[in-house]
Parts: sequence; structure tokens; C-alpha cells
Amino acid sequence: MLSTRFTRLVGCSAPIQLAGMGRVLTAELAAAVSEAGGLGMVTDTGAGASALEAKLKAIRERTALPFGVNFLIPLLDRDCVRLAAGRAKVCDFFWGEPDRTLVDLVHSAGALASWQVGSLREALAARDAGCDFIIAQGIEAGGHIRGKIGVLALLSEVLDAVDIPVLAAGGIGSGRSLAAVLAAGAAGARVGTRFIATSESAAHPSYIAALIAARSEDSIRSTLHSVDCPLCPSTHGVLASAVEAARRLDTETAGELQLVDGTTRSILKFAGFRPDRTTRGTIEAMALYAGQSVGWVREVTPAAEVVRELAERAEQLLQTWLGEPATPTR
Ligand SMILES: Cc1cc2nc3c(=O)[nH]c(=O)nc-3n(C[C@H](O)[C@H](O)[C@H](O)COP(=O)(O)O)c2cc1C
Repeated sequence: MLSTRFTRLVGCSAPIQLAGMGRVLTAELAAAVSEAGGLGMVTDTGAGASALEAKLKAIRERTALPFGVNFLIPLLDRDCVRLAAGRAKVCDFFWGEPDRTLVDLVHSAGALASWQVGSLREALAARDAGCDFIIAQGIEAGGHIRGKIGVLALLSEVLDAVDIPVLAAGGIGSGRSLAAVLAAGAAGARVGTRFIATSESAAHPSYIAALIAARSEDSIRSTLHSVDCPLCPSTHGVLASAVEAARRLDTETAGELQLVDGTTRSILKFAGFRPDRTTRGTIEAMALYAGQSVGWVREVTPAAEVVRELAERAEQLLQTWLGEPATPTR
């Protein structure tokens, strides 16, 4: 078992947090990651309190273990934060200035607060806002990229500056890269792309197939899939093939998505929307977010196998490198 400050703080047994990933995440995926020893997560997609309540209930029906809820600041509803903080172990925030009033709200309802950051300045602000742990996101990441530097450079800066546990995010898709960030002093890793190709994920099968076919270098930094996205303009880690396919589209829309209430909405060309199972249209031209970790996406497996593979391999490597049982302290 890889015990770290993160696993002890949140009460899990593997130093792996499922990344917030919007509609790609399901209650089944969150529960499977938690049951396998990691910290399962769902994202509040801004669909309102009753949709969130249903997700929280669905997770609790599947696991009694800790899980977290991810919030994107541009879509934030404080009532949903209050609701999540009363049910989840962790409320996690991304894409906005760290905010002490939000952290206090989470703490007053009994949960831990975490913030995914892209710079040392933002990490210090998250610490000063009272966060219990932070996630340092490097530019290797899939999806929206907050900062400008690689994960090891950012991790080194942040670990030298703060005392709270720090997870690393971006490009971590193998046991070796998990071991590397733990050896650098991280308390764990936030992993996104590896969990898209799991049996519990809601990603569209063609999206998953494109990830399996891709190599690490097929994940590029792009600003193009920014249409109709409340977080944009921004840089994303996305498959090069998706950008090329969108450029080739000779229509203004790439397809349509189904909303929670059953109605449909058009997905514009270059929209920042990653396709899920309900999406119809030219899937290969949509925002197929992928981090540099995509090279390790080789088949669809249950999420528990991803957790096990990463944690066991990292533990083995750390033991080999250190010549003793691995117990990273921070
Ligand atoms: C498909 C996808 C969707 C994402 N959506 C979100 C999100 O809704 N909220 C969030 O905090 N981060 C989101 N991210 C970024 C992740 O939190 C994390 O930084 C990233 O997945 C780490 O890199 P990796 O994909 O190489 O593991 C997303 C990433 C991907 C790949």
C-alpha cells in the first residue's frame, strides 16, 4: 500500500484522484475508483441541484468509501457546493481564483477543499484560501490547461513553497510516472485521460477508439476547440486528429448533444464539448481532449484495473529505487 499525506487525509488507500472530467464521468466510474482505493470524483456540470443530488445518491448506492465533487468556477452554484460538501469527502475547484469564502463553505459543511492550479502564484493563493490540498496541473494535461509550464517544473516550485499535500496532474498514465511524481514529493496524482477508456466511463465509443489509436505525441496543445465554452479562450490538451477533422468539416455544426432534460442542442464546429454516449454527429471532429498520458490508453478496462496497475507498478518501482518499502512522506 502506498500511504501518503493525501491517502491519510482523504481516507483512501491508493494515491490516485480521478480527475474532474465533466460529462465523461459517471457515478459508476467514481464509485469504481473509490472501491479500488483511489478517490473517485464526479463533476458538477451546472445542471442544477437535483441533477447533482441524483449523482451523489447514485455514488452512495455503489460505495461507502470517500469520493469528491469537482466544480468549475464559471459554472459554480453555491447551493450545489453546500449540497456536495454535506455528502462528499472532498469539494474540488478549478478554473478560477482561489476563494476563501468557498473553502469556508466547504469546511463548514464538513468536507475537505482542494483546488487545481496552474502556477506557483495560484498555488499560494489556494493555500492562503485555506485549501486542504492542491493539485499542480502541468501543460501535459488533457482538457483545459491552466498554466504554462510542465508538471515537474510546477511541482518542484509548489512543493518548495507550500506545506499542504500536493498532487500532480498532467500526462500521468503509467505506474512509472506516478512513481516519479511521488519520488519528487507529490502526495499522489490526479489522472484523467487513462480513465476515459474504462467500462464505466460515459465517453462516446468513437472518442475511446481514437484514444486507443493515439500515441503520446498525438496529444497537442491547441486553442481551437473554444467555441461555446464558458472556460474559453484557453489552451487544451486535445488529439491532433480532432483538430484536423474539425478543419475538414464543411458544415457549421459537428453534431448534437442530449441535455439532462432529454432535449437536444447543436454542437457547433470547434465547440469545447467532449462527446459522450448521447452525442450524435461527426464525433472525430469534436473536442477529443487527451493528455500526453494517452500513449498508455491501450484498451477499455474496468477502472479498478487502472487504479491497480498504476498503484502496484509505482509501489514496485519505488521499492526498487529506494531499496526499502515505499512510504513517501509528502
Ligand atoms: C476529457 C477531459 C475533461 C476534463 N474536464 C475537466 C473538468 O470538468 N474539471 C476539471 O477540474 N478538470 C477537467 N479536466 C482536466 C483534469 O482535471 C486534469 O488536469 C487532467 O485530466 C490531467 O491530465 P491527464 O488527462 O493527462 O491525466 C479534464 C480533462 C480531460 C482529459
